[in-house]
Amino acid sequence: MNAMTGSGILFFDSGIGGLSVVKEARILLPGHRFIYFADDAAFPYGGWEEGALLERLIGLFGTLIDRYRPEMIVIACNTASTLAIDALRKVYPAQPFVGTVPAIKPAAERTRSGLVSVLATPGTVKRQYTRDLIEKYASRCHVRLVGSENLAALAETYMREGFVDEAAVAAEVAPCFVESGGRRTDIVVLACTHYPFLVNRMRKMAPWPVDWIDSSEAIARRALDLLNVMPRAPEEPGELPDIAVFSSGAPDPAQTRLVRGFGFSVIG
Ligand code: DGL
Repeated sequence: MNAMTGSGILFFDSGIGGLSVVKEARILLPGHRFIYFADDAAFPYGGWEEGALLERLIGLFGTLIDRYRPEMIVIACNTASTLAIDALRKVYPAQPFVGTVPAIKPAAERTRSGLVSVLATPGTVKRQYTRDLIEKYASRCHVRLVGSENLAALAETYMREGFVDEAAVAAEVAPCFVESGGRRTDIVVLACTHYPFLVNRMRKMAPWPVDWIDSSEAIARRALDLLNVMPRAPEEPGELPDIAVFSSGAPDPAQTRLVRGFGFSVIG
């Protein structure tokens, strides 16, 4: 087995938020083996210093590529992708990657008011990658970058326990809503893969209706397009199980239940 014909698609996130991408990928990529890797020992990525996180990611991906030989890696994490996707492609040139970056281009195409907010982790809003996307695709819009300290953790709580402090979610989301010169924000980009799990709460608490852009389906579709043009060994269905691996080695029972619900057996 070599890197081109490896064993499945590896989905990567700092936690369980990347399951929002897996949910769409299950529909678009049936018949593929899925591996889910959560770097929960380092969660949340949002507050990490860039140099230290980049170093961690380069080392970790090297280990994952050696261990699983995935035919593709989907980095289901904006915070990791905006920092490391270019470096990862350089360091591991034989490994196909799909990254997840803020959906600024579709937001700029869709907005009518010209006021767009990007809701993301503090790491993603600081990145040069994100600034470049705005300059390239949204120079005619007013883009407000909202870095949320707590929303990824709130989403994890909600996913695990089924409830969340709604006032805390509302406080994190409030800066997305801007009124200026008779215009209002009409698009909020969900630029963290954890956030789609909270979108119904956000919608309920929004001061006015907006379009919430969730790029999970677009990421899964990008993976499908890429797989369609990649050389591939014939699948041997059912040979290897879909597994979820947590870097802490110790997912709690709620995390275990959750990933099982997405079709994964938990390994360590
Ligand atoms: N799910 C990750 C993202 O898309 C970030 C969560 C974290 O702060 O670790 O950005």
